[in-house]
Amino acid sequence: MAIIAPSFLAADFLQLGAACEMVNNSQADWYHLDVMDGVFVPNISFGQPIVAGLCKQSTKYCDVHLMIEKPEKFIEDFVKAGAQNITVHYEACTHLHRNIQQIKQLGIQAGVALNPHTPIGLLDEIICSVDIVCLMSVNPGFGGQKFIPETIQKIKALKQLILAKNSKALIEIDGGVTLENAAEIVQAGADVLVAGSSVFGSNNPTEAIAAFKNIA
Ligand code: DX5
Ligand code: ZN
Repeated sequence: MAIIAPSFLAADFLQLGAACEMVNNSQADWYHLDVMDGVFVPNISFGQPIVAGLCKQSTKYCDVHLMIEKPEKFIEDFVKAGAQNITVHYEACTHLHRNIQQIKQLGIQAGVALNPHTPIGLLDEIICSVDIVCLMSVNPGFGGQKFIPETIQKIKALKQLILAKNSKALIEIDGGVTLENAAEIVQAGADVLVAGSSVFGSNNPTEAIAAFKNIA
């Protein structure tokens, strides 16, 4: 059964306490927290204080997705905030291996995210060092975008790479995941589904999460 990770980017920011309570009491497995700096992506979301507040309220695993330049400057802050995984972007890291080691040395799990245009093959030398590979199935920066269909082939290729290299990395799919495409995404090999607008935009977010768990 796939891991369901609601993205709080789509939550009502004036009701974050209620959003935590809803997710804590739902069948969701993870919190997915999207940090954007307005430089790596053309949008600004929230930073360390909000992440700290959310992690404090969370009874689930806290997955922090850093869509920021120079993540090494902030990794320690987000570990202190309560992140249990930090995912950095391949495209934002000149020294990706060093950044992954930095996260792990602070005692938490480490992920790498790939933008839609970034090929899977670039992960050959890092796949055994990461706990999560996050494939962006939209261009990062905004919630509520349409799933890029080519991601399905990418998931299959990544699954092959993981098996070939005997890596334990989980495959996380982020962007445009809906109740309509979730089954196909999981069949292709995904382990974790991030869902923002399809959870928080639903009339009944708790039921939407339950429906994701059923399908996936
Ligand atoms: C996009 C973020 C996603 C986003 C997903 O840049 O990384 O996590 O919140 O939102 P939906 O599910 O609405 O596409
Ligand atoms: Zn994300």
